[in-house]
Amino acid sequence: MNILQIDSSVLGDHSASRSLTAQVVADLVAKNPTATVTVRDLDQDAPAHLSGALLPVLGGPKDGLNAVQEAELQRTEAFLKEFLEADVLVVGVPQYNFGIPSQLKSWIDRIAQAGRTFRYTEKGPEGLAGGKRVIVVSSRGGVRADASALDLHEQTVDVVFRFLGITDITYVRAHGLAFGPDAREAALAAARGEVAALNDGAALAA
Ligand SMILES: Cc1cc2nc3c(=O)[nH]c(=O)nc-3n(C[C@H](O)[C@H](O)[C@H](O)COP(=O)(O)O)c2cc1C
Repeated sequence: MNILQIDSSVLGDHSASRSLTAQVVADLVAKNPTATVTVRDLDQDAPAHLSGALLPVLGGPKDGLNAVQEAELQRTEAFLKEFLEADVLVVGVPQYNFGIPSQLKSWIDRIAQAGRTFRYTEKGPEGLAGGKRVIVVSSRGGVRADASALDLHEQTVDVVFRFLGITDITYVRAHGLAFGPDAREAALAAARGEVAALNDGAALAA
């Protein structure tokens, strides 16, 4: 089993999502000792934002790239390889200003490539990266006003992963983290319980 852990929080050791992605992965490895784990820290090693200069890297002919573009191509190919080879993705998705961290958006901009992770057909777009499990660790200071809806940061990753063909998406939530120390600890404890329940049994074995 190949596990890809993706962290995007900018809060380092104080990050809620990082502590929880680490727990999810540790539990997975405990149950699947032969699993390989790849960790992508999108804060420590942030991909450049999508730009005009980056477009040739993401599609089209690859000859004539300058040195910067060539380096970005190598990095993009590494992202794609890790993503495509992963059986399980454990993704930390904090809510920053209502959306996902821009570092995570930049990663999505690298891996969402026509002909690689999705394609257009006569019937519409088709994901090419199915058969994976995604565990999203969703963290935020506030709470959802509408408990029946996904938050915007969750909606974004949900739409993207489904577009790429992934239907097995589970959410672990630590919300209301900004409502004081007691509320934070309660939210983290509840999320740790969700992780334990998630990894209970052989459901994740692959
Ligand atoms: C720059 C920034 C923007 C934030 N914006 C929001 C927000 O829009 N909604 C919210 O509920 N919490 C917001 N928060 C609080 C974070 O969601 C909260 O700190 C959470 O713990 C982030 O997850 P992390 O600890 O893994 O980074 C924001 C925090 C930061 C640092």
